[in-house]
Amino acid sequence: MKRVTIIVGTSSKKHTYSAVQQFMEYLQSFGDVECRIITLSDFRLDVCRGCKICFEKGEEDCPLKDDRDVLIEEMMSSDGVIFATPNYSFNVSALMKIFLDRLGFIFHRPCFFGKCFTSIVTQGVYGGDKIVNYLDFVGNGMGFNTVKGQCLTAFEPMTEKEKEKRNNILSIQSRKFYQKLINADYPVPTLLKLMGFRMGRTSMRLELDDTSYDYRHYKDNGWFESDYFYPTRLGLFKKAAGSLFDLIQTRTTGNRLRILHKK
Ligand SMILES: Cc1cc2nc3c(=O)[nH]c(=O)nc-3n(C[C@H](O)[C@H](O)[C@H](O)COP(=O)(O)O)c2cc1C
Repeated sequence: MKRVTIIVGTSSKKHTYSAVQQFMEYLQSFGDVECRIITLSDFRLDVCRGCKICFEKGEEDCPLKDDRDVLIEEMMSSDGVIFATPNYSFNVSALMKIFLDRLGFIFHRPCFFGKCFTSIVTQGVYGGDKIVNYLDFVGNGMGFNTVKGQCLTAFEPMTEKEKEKRNNILSIQSRKFYQKLINADYPVPTLLKLMGFRMGRTSMRLELDDTSYDYRHYKDNGWFESDYFYPTRLGLFKKAAGSLFDLIQTRTTGNRLRILHKK
């Protein structure tokens, strides 16, 4: 049995919620999947104060005492996660953004490897596709295997044809998500993901030291020496590309540090 958590960034039980329910219905028709819908407004989430203590000292030292860890635990204990949000002023809802900011440290120390992710965005007219791209990036940044999200235009009221079109999109998306869910794996990173890892870890290795939580996390996980976040077989081309990314970042950071230390 696979476990899926759907996190909804609105308290309204309209288009976003209905799309999520339809997605869940399709997903459960493919196989043994237990789904849980979580509405963010049912949880206490405080606004990030920007102290960066989570980066430097660890998330346990965050001064905010809210339900962040309950939500992270829900995601951690799931095989798949879906973020669903309406388009509000060409972005995710404020609720969803507050949630994402509370997870900011995970972009520094990704932890959802081997789990899959997708997003559902509903919109009135325009702007949802960019939000989908943003959420795809968020999913990848957290370490998930991401299935491209979908933007659904929520006509009011909806004709049968519009409903059929929406359901068709959700049916295709949920099938792709199910395939990833049952073949949960640790794929060879794309060139872009490899670049993100190699450049990020090289700059961290040169700029930080043992006093930083991020640095210790990378060191403890062997990420300063590994090919990627998790064991993987890079082909010759990606091996060479990985070394090149390390080299480019060593030079860039080296130049920056030389200028800083001259002052
Ligand atoms: C505050 C607010 C801002 C919105 N901004 C946009 C927008 O920028 N672009 C758009 O296409 N729709 C926008 N909409 C419409 C919603 O995205 C759309 O109605 C969506 O289906 C709402 O989700 P819900 O039915 O789950 O509440 C906005 C709605 C609200 C309430």
